[in-house]
Amino acid sequence: MTRSISLVVNGRSIEAAVEPRTHLADFVRDALRLTGTHLGCEHGVCGACTVLIDGAPARSCIAYAIACDGVEVRTIEGFDDDPLMQALRDAFTRHHALQCGYCTPGMLITAHDVIQRLPGADEARVREELSGNLCRCTGYVGIVEAVRSVLEETQVTGSAMRREAATPSGTIPYTNARFAPHDALPVLDASPTVPNEPAPRRSMRTTPFASPGVPPPAAPERRALAAPEAPGSEYKIALPIALDTLWSTLRDIATVVHCLPGASLGSPANADPLILRMTVAIGPIRAQFEGVGRVTFDDRQRTGVIEGEGYDPRTRSSSEGRIGFSAEPSHTGGSVLSLSLQYTLKGPLAQFSRGAVVDAVIEKLIERFAANLASAAAGREADASPLGGLGLAAAASWRRLRRWLTSSDG
Ligand code: FES
Ligand code: FES
Repeated sequence: MTRSISLVVNGRSIEAAVEPRTHLADFVRDALRLTGTHLGCEHGVCGACTVLIDGAPARSCIAYAIACDGVEVRTIEGFDDDPLMQALRDAFTRHHALQCGYCTPGMLITAHDVIQRLPGADEARVREELSGNLCRCTGYVGIVEAVRSVLEETQVTGSAMRREAATPSGTIPYTNARFAPHDALPVLDASPTVPNEPAPRRSMRTTPFASPGVPPPAAPERRALAAPEAPGSEYKIALPIALDTLWSTLRDIATVVHCLPGASLGSPANADPLILRMTVAIGPIRAQFEGVGRVTFDDRQRTGVIEGEGYDPRTRSSSEGRIGFSAEPSHTGGSVLSLSLQYTLKGPLAQFSRGAVVDAVIEKLIERFAANLASAAAGREADASPLGGLGLAAAASWRRLRRWLTSSDG
């Protein structure tokens, strides 16, 4: 079965028939012969396949071609006449920022975006922004120096180079073919994707917990749910808060939402259902979910449930989740918050299936939520910034990811 799509690639209108399982990277490489887009992990992790979709960097290995109907795609070939990209290419040569060059197209597209979006970025910010692009042979010193040298150059020459860079080059590196259904497009060997089955969580892990201005309580304890058919995780978090204070904080929906990094309310806190918004960044991939949710409390048992579902139009991903929570006294006079998390993720983001990354993001989310809850209960301001937005989660995730990658064959 194929479906027709129309999109613009490097300034050229394309109509094609694609298999639902064909991802954008295979489409541009095999159907359009734009082989500058490289495939490394094919899991949304390494960044080798980065292209621009509607002007923003995206992993073409986890974007379905069929989901790109109506969008504008720019691959590395579409930058041939771009002065900013030329400056980056020169700088990469000057600073020895590549050896095998496999990561380079994705690295260049990401760097191009960073320079336009963050003209004042310092080294730490450049490193953070490039953290979603992995290089397995050169190392990052030369790459970071190359990007920084172009940042400095654009500061000297003003924004002219950045302005020119904002429009596609107009270079058409392939023929203006209208692709016929079926025969012009490859049929992939891969079996049809089942994107909505998150892997069961991994083994128990303990993570240190820090709350600004609040004495650090015991580390949150996490264990995998027993039933493999119910993917999710359970956490027990010891908090330096009296049980009554914890429960009254949990009863305040606006405060609870504010404590969840990246979450906000789009409705009054007493609405039913609630309108919930949630931004999560995994490295350079940012999803903004909006949806509805319901919270129920059992004051006698001091338990509750949050259920919700949301959709991110940008990544065309949807999510459903259920968080059960309960509060009980601890032996030290504080309290213990227990959380059980279950969720499903559908759409391109679901393909981002490296368990280590998802684990790290969820752990960080729980850590920050618990730290914020402790701050809120103590009358202090919670850190509501989106997870990964300024590198907190991303740094931890990508550090772990790099360790994982360098210890695997992949
Ligand atoms: Fe797409 Fe690695 S091939 S992120
Ligand atoms: Fe070889 Fe980066 S230059 S992977």
